Amino acid sequence: MDSFLIEGGKKLEGEVNISGAKNAALPLLAASLLCEGTHSLENVPRLRDISTMLKLLSHLGVSSEQNGNGVKLNADKIVADDAPYELVKTMRASVLVMGPLVARLRHAKVSLPGGCAIGARPIDLHLKALEQMGAKVELHDGYVEVFAENLKAAHISFDKVTVTGTENIMMAACLLKGTTILENAAKEPEVVELAEHLCNMGAKIRGAGTHHIEIEGVEKLHAVHHRVMSDRIEAGTFVIAAAITGGKITLHNAPTENLSVFLDRIIDTGASVEKNKNDLTIIGASEIKSVNISTAPHPGFATDLQAQFMALMCKANGTSIINENIFENRFMHVPELKRMGADINIEGHTAIVNGKRKLTGAPIMATDLRASACLVLAALAADGQTEVSRIYHLDRGYDHMEEKLCALGANIIRKKNI
Ligand code: UD1
Repeated sequence: MDSFLIEGGKKLEGEVNISGAKNAALPLLAASLLCEGTHSLENVPRLRDISTMLKLLSHLGVSSEQNGNGVKLNADKIVADDAPYELVKTMRASVLVMGPLVARLRHAKVSLPGGCAIGARPIDLHLKALEQMGAKVELHDGYVEVFAENLKAAHISFDKVTVTGTENIMMAACLLKGTTILENAAKEPEVVELAEHLCNMGAKIRGAGTHHIEIEGVEKLHAVHHRVMSDRIEAGTFVIAAAITGGKITLHNAPTENLSVFLDRIIDTGASVEKNKNDLTIIGASEIKSVNISTAPHPGFATDLQAQFMALMCKANGTSIINENIFENRFMHVPELKRMGADINIEGHTAIVNGKRKLTGAPIMATDLRASACLVLAALAADGQTEVSRIYHLDRGYDHMEEKLCALGANIIRKKNI
């Protein structure tokens, strides 16, 4: 398992190109299962979750060809209808093949994702919606099997906003007779992107980006070309890299419009933010102000940026209250930050961060994807050397992060541990 050796205390300066969004690319790749023909996607980030999804698609019969950031996919012949445990256990988003398989084959067998470091993360809402559409769902041997011969359009109201749940059901519904209505649907930009892609493929979807989505079924879809949107979470992470080191970074291809609430909070910390079309320049403040945040579904403060923001608050002048409202166990980074000298108390789903503590290098361990990013940011702002182990979490979701950070002046060495 690789680790990073990070020598902290350097101001990061320069320009960075933001990659395509992992959470947009994954459902777009899964959507290739919906029809015959060759799809082509550009701006696909090079990271492990994408390779895992391509492996899963290959298991199902989808051939793919990767060329840099481009991927061509052909799903003329589907040869399997199951998502095996070995793949689902490493990436929960594997569950995204369920909707398209059900739409095309009327049957799917997907390993239950089980828990993960940030909480239980069930898929009961995906399954409840499929049952409301007439599917029969059986759980056995750790798998969920969906029998959907009689699948029909339905009026579904999600009990809770779920991003991949909304995406799965949107894909399951687009080849059905009649109009499926989703209430309390997720409004995340990645959901909007999938809806736009499906519409380009011939689907009829209205309301994406609101809580009320209507999917009018069509008989057939066709393969298309699509450019994946920029990654708002990667962009947010680099924004914090500038803020926490007191540096100046210009992000190219930044999805500024999808980061409004986050950027408002960054401005509240005293950093200056300049927007110029798709470029975003962040200049870190000499004195970081403490700011309270509460995570919420889009357009609220993204849970995927909570851990990174907490690293910044460790350096702020004052106390900051951080409420995590999406996942029940998303403070795994706190004990590691404390090992670096941070003063943080957890009360339920609230973390109280007493800032202005000196962070010092220490051996620490990454526990999940965004927690890893938080620890890397803290290490960049710490005195001395930090070893962040279990960096494979970071490789799952960030496109060449250490190379991008080193190009901005960071001192990071990847230690290969056999
Ligand atoms: C997606 C993102 C992830 C992000 C999360 C919240 C992808 C691939 N991943 O994950 O990066 O952190 O949205 O913005 O897009 N829930 C249930 N039952 C369900 C489904 C969800 O109880 O059937 C709960 C979850 O445990 C969680 C909340 O609903 O507490 C939101 O989860 P959800 O939006 O589904 O997250 P993902 O789609 O898995």
